[in-house]
Amino acid sequence: MSTFYEFGLSNAVVRATAAMGFEEATSIQELAIPRAMAGKDIIGQAQTGTGKTAAFGIPMIEKCLMELGAIQGLVITPTRELAVQVAEEINTLGKYKNIRALPIYGGQDIERQIKALKNKPQIIVATPGRLMDHMRRKLIRLQQIVVVVLDEADEMLNMGFREDIENILADVPDERQTMLFSATMPRPIQDLARRFMHDPEFISIRSKGVTVPSTDQYYYQVHEKEKFDALCRLLDLHAPEAAIVFARTKRRVDELLEALIKRGYSAEAIHGDLTQAKRDSVMRKFKNMSTEILVATDVAARGLDIGSVTHVYNFDIPQDPDSYVHRIGRTGRLGKPGIAATFVSHREIGHLEQIERSIKRKIERKPVPTISEAIEGQQRLTVEKLMQVITEGEQLQYKELACKLLENVDAISLLAAALKMLTKEPDLTPVKITAGKPWVTKKSKYAEKSGRTSFRQKPGSNKGRAIHKKKQKSDYSGFRNQ
Ligand SMILES: Nc1ncnc2c1ncn2[C@@H]1O[C@H](COP(=O)(O)OP(=O)(O)OP(=O)(O)O)[C@@H](O)[C@H]1O
Ligand SMILES: [Mg+2]
Repeated sequence: MSTFYEFGLSNAVVRATAAMGFEEATSIQELAIPRAMAGKDIIGQAQTGTGKTAAFGIPMIEKCLMELGAIQGLVITPTRELAVQVAEEINTLGKYKNIRALPIYGGQDIERQIKALKNKPQIIVATPGRLMDHMRRKLIRLQQIVVVVLDEADEMLNMGFREDIENILADVPDERQTMLFSATMPRPIQDLARRFMHDPEFISIRSKGVTVPSTDQYYYQVHEKEKFDALCRLLDLHAPEAAIVFARTKRRVDELLEALIKRGYSAEAIHGDLTQAKRDSVMRKFKNMSTEILVATDVAARGLDIGSVTHVYNFDIPQDPDSYVHRIGRTGRLGKPGIAATFVSHREIGHLEQIERSIKRKIERKPVPTISEAIEGQQRLTVEKLMQVITEGEQLQYKELACKLLENVDAISLLAAALKMLTKEPDLTPVKITAGKPWVTKKSKYAEKSGRTSFRQKPGSNKGRAIHKKKQKSDYSGFRNQ
């Protein structure tokens, strides 16, 4: 592995990487940074949480001429939260060069953005809808852009965004450098991308698998009706520091949130129908760990880097293998351990196998924990918390009271009572979750030839994949509702 000194970068950027605690470059950074610095167009694929942002962010910062006073770098992302996060990372990396990266996204007050644009940022990180809005109003000029990056490029070039991207790129000078990054890069997307790139180099760090080895992947075979109780038991057993629970639709996310709160969990939800102010506050609480569980649609599946996430639960199995890769990639970032649990109904087993084939990894089946195992998990958590209080000496002021109590009650009864009070016992409050439809995998004629599989819903449901896909997309478009 190389250190950042070895890439011939400016002192300002090397200093920033050191300040951020980056000791060595990651594999994708090692391959992408020198090529990007040399001006190559790049299609970069590397696992989730392996530092792709800095892989494109560092060269982009280096290419900005401070005296120019114009926007020179453009990053496009599929969601607002990701735009904010990428802009933050670029600002931190560019701190000592005085780089200003501005996020431009829908839902935020446009006047505020116009004001911020007057500060002449060198880089903007934008969601497509709001960027085009600014372009139409002639508030953003893209004529001096030298580097364009599509983060989560396969998503950006998917049907939902493709036209917007084409419109935006039509306004950026042809001689620009274009870079595409994602953890998944399907072949047809690569071919499409080549049309607006200059002889791009494909860099892939796939040798170690599409998903990260540090994340354990399990599945639980459950009936639709049993899913929620199974989720509660898993949450009790695992006692995650921070977890994301993915569900298929906004409605299911809302129902799940309500149900989790009813049963005493600390949860918040994010999806495209919430106001930006609400989304911001949800993300803030989840990041600073005042909320333990984030219930989300696929809108939170890509790019978000929240280091505390120890568990990802797929309450509903994702609609395709790539979506699985991104969802579970919210944990196990940069070698940290993670656990990914997926609920699968009997009818969805074929769909799960399709995911396994695509990621070239077996997902281990586990039994749903019993109630007593769930209780043990919570008891273990209580004991850990108690021991931590002792380690930190926080109990000292209670010693006198403890001595007084011990005059009348024996120590074991007293401690047992305290443990009971502190332990979250299984709560069976009835909740309402509308039944979801299973994903059923069926080989199509095309699939038989190409070895690919298409997905369709249960026969008789009268809904094909296209309809479902549209539903999912509508959530992205909620974020794009700019
Ligand atoms: N060389 C490095 N050393 C240590 N930490 C790093 C290094 N490069 C990046 N990081 C940190 O690793 C984390 C993950 O990086 P990043 O979000 O860029 O991953 P990613 O590859 O874009 O993942 P995803 O596919 O999910 O978008 C971030 O917190 C980032 O600051
Ligand atoms: Mg990323």
